[in-house]
Amino acid sequence: MEVKTSLLDNMIGVGDMVLLEPLSEDSFLENLRKRFDHNEIYTYIGSVVISMNPYRSLPIYSPEKVEEYRNRNFYELSPHIYALADEAYRSLRDHDKDQCILITGESGAGKTEASKLVMSYVAAVCGKGQEVNKVKEQLLQSNPVLEAFGNAKTVRNDNSSRFGKYMDIEFDFKGDPLGGVISNYLLEKSRVVKQPRGERNFHIFYQLLSGASDDTLEKLKLDRDFSKYNYLSLDSAVVNGLDDATSFRTVKNAMQIVGFMENEVQSVLELVAAVLKLGNIEFKPESRCNGTDESRVKDKNDLKEMCELLGIEQAVLERAFSYRTVEAKLEKVSTTLNVAQAYYARDALAKNLYSRLFSWLVTRINESIKAQTKTRHKVMGVLDIYGFEIFEDNSFEQFIINYCNEKLQQIFIELTLREEQEEYVREGIEWTNIEYFNNAVICDLIENNQNGIMAMLDEECLRPGTVTDETFLDKLNTVCAEHQHFESRLSKNSKFLNDHSLPHSCFRIQHYAGKVLYGVEGFVDKNNDLLYRDLSQAMYKANHSLIKQLFPEGNPAKVNLKRPPTAGFQFKASVGILMRNLQTKNPNYIRCIKPNDKKAPHIFTESLVCHQVHYLGLMENVRVRRAGYAFRQAYEPCLERYKMLCKRTWPHWRGPARVGVEVLMADLQVPAEEFSYGRSKIFIRNPRTLFFLEERRRQCLQDLATLIQKIYRGWKSRTHFLLLKKSQIVVAAWYRRYAQQKKYQRIKSATTVVQSYTRGWQARKLLRELKHQKRCEEAVTTIAAYWHGTQVRREYRKFFRANAGKKIYNFTIQRIMQKYFLGLKRTLPSMSPIDKNWPARPYRFLDTAHTELRGIFHLWRCKKYRSQFTQEKKAVYEEKLEASEIFKDKKSLYPSSVSQPFKGDYLEISKNPKYQKLNSCVEETVLLADVVNKINRANGKGATRILLLTKKSVVLADQKSGQVKASVALPDLTSVSVSTQNDGFFALKLKEGSASAVKGDFLLSSEHLIETITKLHHIGSTASDDGEQLNIDISDEFLVQFKQDKVCVKFIQGAPKNGSSVSCKRKNNRLLEVSVPATA
Ligand SMILES: Nc1ncnc2c1ncn2[C@@H]1O[C@H](COP(=O)(O)OP(=O)(O)O)[C@@H](O)[C@H]1O
Ligand SMILES: [Mg+2]
Repeated sequence: MEVKTSLLDNMIGVGDMVLLEPLSEDSFLENLRKRFDHNEIYTYIGSVVISMNPYRSLPIYSPEKVEEYRNRNFYELSPHIYALADEAYRSLRDHDKDQCILITGESGAGKTEASKLVMSYVAAVCGKGQEVNKVKEQLLQSNPVLEAFGNAKTVRNDNSSRFGKYMDIEFDFKGDPLGGVISNYLLEKSRVVKQPRGERNFHIFYQLLSGASDDTLEKLKLDRDFSKYNYLSLDSAVVNGLDDATSFRTVKNAMQIVGFMENEVQSVLELVAAVLKLGNIEFKPESRCNGTDESRVKDKNDLKEMCELLGIEQAVLERAFSYRTVEAKLEKVSTTLNVAQAYYARDALAKNLYSRLFSWLVTRINESIKAQTKTRHKVMGVLDIYGFEIFEDNSFEQFIINYCNEKLQQIFIELTLREEQEEYVREGIEWTNIEYFNNAVICDLIENNQNGIMAMLDEECLRPGTVTDETFLDKLNTVCAEHQHFESRLSKNSKFLNDHSLPHSCFRIQHYAGKVLYGVEGFVDKNNDLLYRDLSQAMYKANHSLIKQLFPEGNPAKVNLKRPPTAGFQFKASVGILMRNLQTKNPNYIRCIKPNDKKAPHIFTESLVCHQVHYLGLMENVRVRRAGYAFRQAYEPCLERYKMLCKRTWPHWRGPARVGVEVLMADLQVPAEEFSYGRSKIFIRNPRTLFFLEERRRQCLQDLATLIQKIYRGWKSRTHFLLLKKSQIVVAAWYRRYAQQKKYQRIKSATTVVQSYTRGWQARKLLRELKHQKRCEEAVTTIAAYWHGTQVRREYRKFFRANAGKKIYNFTIQRIMQKYFLGLKRTLPSMSPIDKNWPARPYRFLDTAHTELRGIFHLWRCKKYRSQFTQEKKAVYEEKLEASEIFKDKKSLYPSSVSQPFKGDYLEISKNPKYQKLNSCVEETVLLADVVNKINRANGKGATRILLLTKKSVVLADQKSGQVKASVALPDLTSVSVSTQNDGFFALKLKEGSASAVKGDFLLSSEHLIETITKLHHIGSTASDDGEQLNIDISDEFLVQFKQDKVCVKFIQGAPKNGSSVSCKRKNNRLLEVSVPATA
């Protein structure tokens, strides 16, 4: 529980009397004085603020101070009227409780100032804004207007309120002011015509005369000099510290702000001026024949000016001051007025004019400041009523004022002393009763309907017969004699018979605040508050809208013969209403104390203060406070207010409220001595506990507010989103429709284009086909025409000369060819293949054919020739052909061999017996048998030998003996070498390593070389199994293997003269030179 304790810190004395130790009247006063001396004018008794009038301006009402006290708990800071105002305002705003600020105290104790401070504080802390500021301004500015018209300097107070004022300020739920309603209570109007010594008339008269411009004064027919006016007392026309001229401008400005129209202000000032003028009207007696005196206006100038001001017919008013018409039920009686009666009438008119003007002002201000809305308002009432007054001469007004203060004291007692104590008892809280003085008995003395002073006064006023103030006093003396608070010299109760302080024409009441001696003079008249009907009618007739409004009873059409209610009765009624009103609201007390009687700063008159402390019941207040509890609340609202502080009670508590509160308190761990449970309420002893609860609640509310905000924002966003979504769908639908429309139109136009193209294309295609068809038809016709033409021409061509040339040409060619072929037949050469003759060609163009034909003929002739051959002859020729293939153009010897037939067996070996033996040695058929020279390598000389050639071998045999010298199997023969020359030399080369090769190669020379070699080649090619040909080397130089040595055989061309034989010479070991004679 963290609470700032600045109330206790740096405190002068104690800030709260509840904390005073020891508590006694002396310590109480000492504390007050100590604080007062240190300019601490405010002190608390619990929540009640005691305010001492400092009689000087203190620097404790600055805007900074306002901020300091704003939204702070009551006990947080040092005592101040702002703390009370803040508490009341927050209680109104946050707890929705109507509030009233009750300011009590004697006249001059500072009530009006306090009320203004409260209002200015509330204005400073409540909401801002153009409209709110206007309302605030109007509410605040109503003060200077009412003060100008309703305040006056008295001996007690230079700015004493001479009317009671109760102002309800209305607020909306946010705590912003909406407007207000002012109720006024009985203006002390007697002051208009007469002021006690040392006092002044209402401020406005002085303000008007000092502050108005010359021009205005002239219009109002006024003079600046106060002394010219009977109604203005001279002795205190100028008050210290009051600047009437400035105040006048302030008032005019305030009236403008409050909303008075220019003409309204003017009318008001005219009425004020009229009152002053009225006071100057004087009367003189004029004797009449019947011996009575009749009053007459002395100097008619003032009357005239006043009538001009108010638009009244002078004669009417003049008559009203001289005569009085009394209307009974049926008749009207007119009586004359004597001078005294005329003065009475004049003053009555002045008082009525002024007090009605004042009431009108209040009504008019209310019209401006009333709240515009009709919703339920929260209300803060500020009561600033005239304080308790004891003057030297106290009259009806003081009686009324003091009665009112009695009633306020009653309220205080009721609510703070009696009611509180009774409540503790009722609620079953342990309590020892505290004694206090209850002033109900005084109230009863004044207001009792049967025998109260007011009832007596009314009775006297209404009683037929002679009624005077004395008869009234007599009545009191009889009726109230027994009352312990009533004192009178002639009362039946004779104990005051010798009390010389009590004059005969007076009675004394022991008020709660002291004894007051009231002189009865004027009680009846003032209570009657009579205004002669002639006067009110004269006023009603005035050509002045305001005056007319103020005197509605002057309307002859609404003559009311009933007596109007008396002033006392009216006041009692309105105070009754006020009290009932105050009881419905939460009271906040400011108890003002006057430190001295001199209106001076720094003076603390102990007896005076002691007296006030006493009668205000402050000591009892402290005692009750100390014993009691600072705060109480019924269980239901308490639970309702704080249930969010405990999980078990939030959001709903199902059981009884009291149990709920108990659970709550237990949960919050509030110490048990800090509170008590009553029957229907919880009582909290210390404000700090309450602050603790409030602080916790404030934090909790913030969280809850956040939650609500969260949900609300969510809801709002969702709604907004849904709306957007809905709108979006609509927009999208429209857009899609539009887009589809556009698309459709596009497709449609595209389709039309495509269609038109297609149709065009189809049409063109058709056209093309038709054209083609047409051309085809034309072509067919043309072709047919040409075809027919051709046919016809072909048919008839033979008949055309143009063909003759070609025909002649063909014919001629055919003839030539015929002649050529026939001629060729005749001149064909012989069938011999070697015949080279061929007839000459007759025509050059037949060149190719002629040559071709020659070739064909030759081939045919050869074929014919070949077909005659026998098998033997064919073989001969085949041999010849082979020889040609081997040697033609390679060996010079060849051509000479062509014509020689290949005989083969030149030795006729089978037949010749000589060779029989040899023949038998050879198994196979001899294919060639010839004589050859075997060249000796030693000298190149040859030795003859017989060469036999069979299918399988070559055999060399001695010519003479026929003995086989060498036999070479054909496969052992690798090659045969010959020269290119015209010689018969040849070498047989053997396979190295074969059996035949032991004696080396053979170098031979033959007459029939061509035939021998050809046959050898032929057999070689047929005999070999692997198809290997026998190589025939034709060259002029070759190597011959003789036994071991290789010898080169070289052929050279010899001279032809050298003989025709071939010679072979050995040149050296390795060379055999063969010289061959050149062929011619
Ligand atoms: N708080 C204050 N500060 C300064 N002066 C004050 C204060 N209260 C009262 N006064 C002085 O005392 C005078 C009388 O106060 P006022 O409020 O008119 O008394 P009341 O209304 O109780 O008769 C004021 O004119 C002012 O000069
Ligand atoms: Mg006052």
